[in-house]
Amino acid sequence: MKLFIDTVDLSEIRDLNATGLIDGVTTNPSLIAKSARPIFEVIAEICDVVAGPVSVEVTAKDHEGMMREGRYLLGIANNITIKVPLTIDGLKTCRALADDGVAVNVTLCFSPAQALLAAKAGAAFISPFVGRMEDIGAEGMVMIKAIIDIYNAYNFDTKILVASVRGPHHVVEAAKMGADISTLPPAVLRAMYKHPLTDNGLERFMADWANTGQSILSSKKDINDHKI
Ligand code: E4P
Repeated sequence: MKLFIDTVDLSEIRDLNATGLIDGVTTNPSLIAKSARPIFEVIAEICDVVAGPVSVEVTAKDHEGMMREGRYLLGIANNITIKVPLTIDGLKTCRALADDGVAVNVTLCFSPAQALLAAKAGAAFISPFVGRMEDIGAEGMVMIKAIIDIYNAYNFDTKILVASVRGPHHVVEAAKMGADISTLPPAVLRAMYKHPLTDNGLERFMADWANTGQSILSSKKDINDHKI
């Protein structure tokens, strides 16, 4: 499963990208608003850091406006993916851009029916929002399973990008189902590393090791001394 990060925070992106585990970045207008930075500037910096796809969302609501904004955003870097909302105009834009060879991420998906339309419109990625579904008491992961079944039945190329992820449990469930990608807030990716038994185990190993008085880096010399 590929892992994207869902943020425009450059220091988080640099830090997490250095782990070698980041396959792409997703952004949205709310995240850019929170950064209080000019969209062109912040997206260009993200594209400099991360080699994989960087999703940037149009903000026009009509097809012509989305096309104009999409073409403008594509000029930022060659790893830009254009994000459009799952509306009639959004999917018209998706079809037109996909026909021009542009990778489109269809966002704000909340049903398998919507996901089917996005795949037929040529989306490179569909972003179903599991957390926001659960916020209203609906079953986000049931939606993911249904989308996987539909896409597999018709061999759609559209990648399922599980979004609005609230914790490692969503990533694990999505991975068990075979979803292609999860996009994670940095805190969720950091949480995936954590387990109390790892911390306790490491503490015990280090305490036992300290009692030996040994050092790995000087052990080669010890072996040589021993041979002599
Ligand atoms: C995905 O592309 C969206 O930016 C994101 O996952 C939305 O998550 P939220 O529901 O936590 O805002």
